[in-house]
Amino acid sequence: MPQAAALHRNQDLASAVKEAEDRYIAANPESQRLAKLATANLPGGNTRTTVHFSPFPLYMASGKGSKLTDVDGHIYADFINEYTAGVFGHSNAVVADAVRQTLAGGINLGAPTRHERLLAEEVQRRFPAMELLRFCNSGTEANLLALATARAFTGREAVMIFDGAYHGSILYFGHGGSPLNMKFEWVVSEYNDLARATADIAKHAAKLAAVIVEPMQGGAGALAGDPAFLQGLRKACDAHKVLLVLDEVMTSRVDYGGVQRKYGIKPDLMTLGKYVGGGLSFGAFGGRADIMARFDPSRPDAYPHGGTFNNNVLAMCAGHAALTHVLSEDRLKRMNDLGDSLRQRLNTLAARHDVPMVATGLGSIFGIHFHKGEIRNAGDLDRFEHGREASINSVKKLFHLDMLAAGHYISRRIMGNLSIESSAEEVDAFCAAVEEFLVARGPVVRAALG
Ligand SMILES: Cc1ncc(COP(=O)(O)O)c(C=O)c1O
Repeated sequence: MPQAAALHRNQDLASAVKEAEDRYIAANPESQRLAKLATANLPGGNTRTTVHFSPFPLYMASGKGSKLTDVDGHIYADFINEYTAGVFGHSNAVVADAVRQTLAGGINLGAPTRHERLLAEEVQRRFPAMELLRFCNSGTEANLLALATARAFTGREAVMIFDGAYHGSILYFGHGGSPLNMKFEWVVSEYNDLARATADIAKHAAKLAAVIVEPMQGGAGALAGDPAFLQGLRKACDAHKVLLVLDEVMTSRVDYGGVQRKYGIKPDLMTLGKYVGGGLSFGAFGGRADIMARFDPSRPDAYPHGGTFNNNVLAMCAGHAALTHVLSEDRLKRMNDLGDSLRQRLNTLAARHDVPMVATGLGSIFGIHFHKGEIRNAGDLDRFEHGREASINSVKKLFHLDMLAAGHYISRRIMGNLSIESSAEEVDAFCAAVEEFLVARGPVVRAALG
């Protein structure tokens, strides 16, 4: 149930944001109460920065199919889908049944079970680059382990990353990088700039263990890598005997075999996370058999890799059920085609209403930027946003609050994605809400962003 009727035309951005925020606060008293309570226990009431937004985040009560219900009783079409991990929608019956059955046999048994091999086999079917693999508990952990493996295997210290990259909570390279980042020796290059990346690889080859890259930079705002850029990285890594690590934690859902299948790139190591665990905590890293064989515990030179929950039976069985019975090639294709058409429609609407707005992304994943001109990498975004940060943040807040009021759950940084449960009608309704925003708020957005 949407929270408010048609949008007003405002004189200026500040009064538009104020009006939207007042409406949001009035509509969500229970979320506000819960958010306030949590500040006594968690910093800012929060344990996951990604889901925080001002004045307070929505607290969700339940999810079913493509819909979420919040604690104040509003129903939303979900365009966040657990930041791409919820590719099967909410409460998928097949996955839930598999979890229930496994649960009946005991949660964790302190021993190998049949579940991990079954999931590993299914992962390898989709991602043949995973000649051997290991499980862990998150995408962050998978990337840390892949990079640690690359450094141990090559005996080299440094790792090349791309400006704007997000490989996990302590591997974040946007806006100068997180102060919490691992203190590896990082070489920073420019995304989607093959000439620069090739020159950087050549220059630093003697100390480079690996180049790690997302096929689409998700955290930077869903900036898709050019196929030629990604394929060129493979060649440059080969030429200089540097390992290529493909972080497909987010992008593996855009094709049955991930972006690596779509663009024909075989990484030396790759990482997975998110939906591959059926919606439970999950990560995986793996790749070339000669590298991953070093994890064989019977070898005298084995790399030790414990992890209490590496083979936790619920994630193993939920992931297996999701991959084998839910995420068929056809369903993934339909979802990704729907996402391609959504981005096209948004860009057509932005041009028609002459508002500086661009939809980026790949398949079922999209980012919306209030920006003029092409966005190839984080540098393009930074150059446009420089000096306009406050206005852009206000426009994003206004857009976000307007979309919530219209019943579309999307993130504050305006990144969204579809699930296999997302319907064409939901996409139509979202496009209609965006058009209403462009008409009603277009004048203040144009005035604020120039
Ligand atoms: C490309 C990419 N790598 C790694 C991660 C980290 O995964 P997790 O949140 O499971 O640690 C994310 C999470 O959004 C991601 O998008």
